[in-house]
Amino acid sequence: MENVTSSQLRAMFLRFYKEKGHAVIASASVIPENDPTVLFTTAGMHPLVPYLLGAKHPEGTRLTDVQKCIRTGDIDEVGDASHLTFFEMLGNWSLGDYFKKEAISWSWEFLTSKEWLGLDPERLAFSVFAGDEDCPADTEAHDLWRSMGVPEERIFYLPKENNWWGPAGVTGPCGPDTEMFIITDKEPCGPDCSPACSCGRYLEIWNDVFMQYNKQADGSFIPLAQKNVDTGMGLERTVLVLTGKKSVYETDAFSGILQKIEELCGKKYDPEDESTVRAFRIVADHTRTATMIMGDQKGVSPSNVDQGYVLRRLIRRAVRMGMKLGLPEGSLASIAQVVIDQYRDVYPELTQNSKFVLDQFTQEEDRFQRTLRQGQREFDKAVARLNGSTVIDGLTAFHLYDTFGYPIEITVEMAAERGLTVDQEGFAANFKKHQETSHAGAEQRFKGGLADHSEQTARLHTATHLLHAALREVLGDEVAQKGSNITAERLRFDFSFGRKVTKDELAQVEAIVNRNIQAAYPVTLEESTVEEAKAAGAIGLFESKYGERVKVYTMGPASKEICGGPHASNTAELVSFKIQKEESSSAGVRRIKAVIGAKAE
Ligand code: ALA
Repeated sequence: MENVTSSQLRAMFLRFYKEKGHAVIASASVIPENDPTVLFTTAGMHPLVPYLLGAKHPEGTRLTDVQKCIRTGDIDEVGDASHLTFFEMLGNWSLGDYFKKEAISWSWEFLTSKEWLGLDPERLAFSVFAGDEDCPADTEAHDLWRSMGVPEERIFYLPKENNWWGPAGVTGPCGPDTEMFIITDKEPCGPDCSPACSCGRYLEIWNDVFMQYNKQADGSFIPLAQKNVDTGMGLERTVLVLTGKKSVYETDAFSGILQKIEELCGKKYDPEDESTVRAFRIVADHTRTATMIMGDQKGVSPSNVDQGYVLRRLIRRAVRMGMKLGLPEGSLASIAQVVIDQYRDVYPELTQNSKFVLDQFTQEEDRFQRTLRQGQREFDKAVARLNGSTVIDGLTAFHLYDTFGYPIEITVEMAAERGLTVDQEGFAANFKKHQETSHAGAEQRFKGGLADHSEQTARLHTATHLLHAALREVLGDEVAQKGSNITAERLRFDFSFGRKVTKDELAQVEAIVNRNIQAAYPVTLEESTVEEAKAAGAIGLFESKYGERVKVYTMGPASKEICGGPHASNTAELVSFKIQKEESSSAGVRRIKAVIGAKAE
């Protein structure tokens, strides 16, 4: 497997599970639907949560997919050998179908059979859940690995910290897992060396989660009605481990992208050259991730909130690193084109949205260059104010950071060029104050946990469909959903539209929704292929691939939309509808926040 490429591994995995009776489904959007707990899809299980909790999936009970995932928690680590902000996760799913026995024997077959990966069984190690007060030790998984011929010394019992998996929010489906590792040539770091330590002897390649509990807000675990399997294999990382390369950037996932960067800046990517290696990697990683966010089914543009803000940071950091490499202005769009081409067959939405992606890169790069020039003027003014002092104060440095996007290193560098220093402690104090504020915002976001399955969420979700339809009726077909977010209190709906919606138009929209609530239309569900749904006039996000079966929710003549649910059973349950706010969300996208009436007991 020394020469395996990511496209080969992706295709092999999906084919294997297809042969085991799994339906291959398309990757969902990287922007989660109706989930207030996270900004981005961070694992393959995210979009499937309703089905893990018992909703029926139109494609059946055995699924396999490659899911686009974004994790920006470790953004500052990007530049080393393995951290990425975007990655692909391969998975196979049992929704109340098979359980541990099949999951483990298929994982074993895929890893070791000569027809598939053909890995040497002696190089593999496994971990299983050690058990605690919430859930007993997973002796079943242990015995299953033993029955595959794995010796005792290569199966490790580990605690919740290592062998338990659940979604990012505090509540939701979760359970013990069993993880699979490649044993490297590194000697054990000590008598207790195990996959739990970070010495590098054991490298994880796959995780089979046995999702059989629903974690409650009070921390207790209630058994789920159905037992599920959720597995995750990080594509880039597994290719890295299988090929024995030194970093993910040396695998095929990045070769084309790095080559383009080399061409544009006239320098060579050399992992040994400490003065440029980080910059090369950051430009490559961030441009790839930004392309995935903008080229997504629900592509967003750079802004100062939520996903748009993360996107802005990624692009701006890539621009700065690009400057270090001497990339000419406007390079990111050319690099993005390589990403779009590379993933043409896997994520066709990138090609469909390519114009949007390239335009956004160009515009954001342009805005940032202007900002940098303004910042330069601001910096010059600050220097002029110094009055003989040689220290730029912390508040000024923070202002440059906060308003002009100047990272402290740039300010320090510019200061040094003029023989000045920066009060970095003062900067840190201001920075900390600011972080506390945004942290409070993040906590708000997590407060609701996976609030999306309560009855209230279902009602707000139904209201979102009525709102979407009414907006199209009043404003025209230009309106298309760009995002949706529901908390216990309100719905928030983002849609494409080129200007502010007038008061009068908002009143009309509100009236239509209220009329459809009073009409008490039953909410009905049908399943069909994407094409049939489109032909029947359904709107919604067409993120499923050709021929895939989808759910279509109909509310009388008021709305027909492709969606995973859940919903109220009748529009009358919404009681009433009120728009609270209409505002801009990002370029060409408007945002409406609305509430519905309390339900009589
Ligand atoms: N959901 C599991 C993971 O992300 C498979 O590791």
